[in-house]
Amino acid sequence: MQIQFKGLEKYDIEKLFKDVQTPCYILDEATFIKNGEILKSLQEETGAKVLLAEKAFSNFTVFPLLSQYLAGTEASGLFEARLGHEEMPGKEVHVFSAAYGDKDFKEVLKYADHIIFNSVYQLKKYGPLAKAAGKEIGLRINPECSTQEGHAIYDPCSPGSRLGVTREIFDLEMDTDTLSLLSGLHSHTLCEQDSDALEITVKAIKEKFGDILPKMKWINLGGGHHITRHDYNIPLLKKIILDLKKTYNLDVYLEPGEAVALNAGYLVTKILDIVRNSGHNIAILDMSAACHTPDVIEMPYMPPLLNSYPITNDINTSTSVVESSAVSDPSKLSVSSPVLDPSALSTSSPVNCAGPDAFTETMTDLFGDVFGDVFGDAINDIFGDDTDVSSSGSVSGNSASGNPSSTDSSSGKLSSVEHIYRLAGPSCLAGDVIGDYAFGHDLNRDELLVFGDMAIYSICKNNTFNGIPLPAIYLLKKDGTIELIKKFSYEDFKERLG
Ligand SMILES: Cc1ncc(COP(=O)(O)O)c(C=O)c1O
Repeated sequence: MQIQFKGLEKYDIEKLFKDVQTPCYILDEATFIKNGEILKSLQEETGAKVLLAEKAFSNFTVFPLLSQYLAGTEASGLFEARLGHEEMPGKEVHVFSAAYGDKDFKEVLKYADHIIFNSVYQLKKYGPLAKAAGKEIGLRINPECSTQEGHAIYDPCSPGSRLGVTREIFDLEMDTDTLSLLSGLHSHTLCEQDSDALEITVKAIKEKFGDILPKMKWINLGGGHHITRHDYNIPLLKKIILDLKKTYNLDVYLEPGEAVALNAGYLVTKILDIVRNSGHNIAILDMSAACHTPDVIEMPYMPPLLNSYPITNDINTSTSVVESSAVSDPSKLSVSSPVLDPSALSTSSPVNCAGPDAFTETMTDLFGDVFGDVFGDAINDIFGDDTDVSSSGSVSGNSASGNPSSTDSSSGKLSSVEHIYRLAGPSCLAGDVIGDYAFGHDLNRDELLVFGDMAIYSICKNNTFNGIPLPAIYLLKKDGTIELIKKFSYEDFKERLG
């Protein structure tokens, strides 16, 4: 059995990360290229333009690489607009802010090509200035079409949202002179969604603003399009774009963040200690959910972990991350965490981020073939094709640590699962927990763990709560070498405080 990240498949993990300083993010050049190629061919085949939403990923070290595939950047305000202008020179800079202030707006004019307003008031106030400066001017509309359930904080169309002008308000506040300032409409309503959700949204846009679209030069369909995910429906996306172009003679922009950097980063962390409480084995890591992966707590979600399997994050949410009914069936997977033999908690632990072979053996021993059959689909559903689960080898009946196997391979059912650890951060926050994960072996102090899909909404959201250091940032180049991009020190912590 193997669970791996596609981008790391060809590497001996232990060797690859032997010299990195933990905790650290590793940006994966090869995956950026893979994503970039998908986005580039979409643009070539449809004439649409794809921008990087910097809010998701703004490590400008790879901007020269990304600029080979993208039309430019999308910013949430002055600083990101300036970063895009400076680090992707010659490419388009678009900016949307829920509201601009006088001082920032004057500066935004220096860097942005497209300026999107969130209200008719702001359009009236700043539009003439932007027009005089030769900018393309857009208005964010709210098509009042929610395509995501139970996700209100990521749904700009949730009732009472401040994001975008509804048709009712548009009709009340818009006048002919103000409308003439506009060259485009902008709509961002999706989050990690497929093109079927976009199709529904575009239908709503046409219904609500179909009379305005012919007066426009372009439409920007925002972000949230998971275009580079393995099962994303690209043909439907192309159809939607081509239809908009044909029907309304519009240029079409997309500004995904996640799709550009999907699966293009890892977070390597070390186990500092393992403690126990009420039947839970808790590994305390040198990374913190609160500081280094805040979306784990905010969203909440459980990131994929190399050579492991996510069980639940019931500290941060009452629901399991594993949504597949096959896996959440208690007969197949028990989440009880037996306290391990104390001898397993030895401190003399060499770095043991099991490479593919070691993992093949332990997972096979532990879960047998049922793991690949039952969990493989679920893992791919959750994490996409960056994670790979396949079965190989034979069931030996014993795990690597000598604990009896919990798999009844003849019936193909799991009766229980051992080696379950709660992974948690070093901060004072009781909820600084990533979640409970199942492993094919007993964890050891000093062992390295590798989280996947860590380029997006992670580095750009870092903080130094508790004085916890910012992780270093490395680049894994496509030739397999690792280059340090940046490390942080006490001064970086202190400078922001006074
Ligand atoms: C206006 C706007 N554009 C683009 C994006 C990028 O979205 P994603 O990273 O989900 O593709 C966002 C995300 O919140 C957004 O608010």
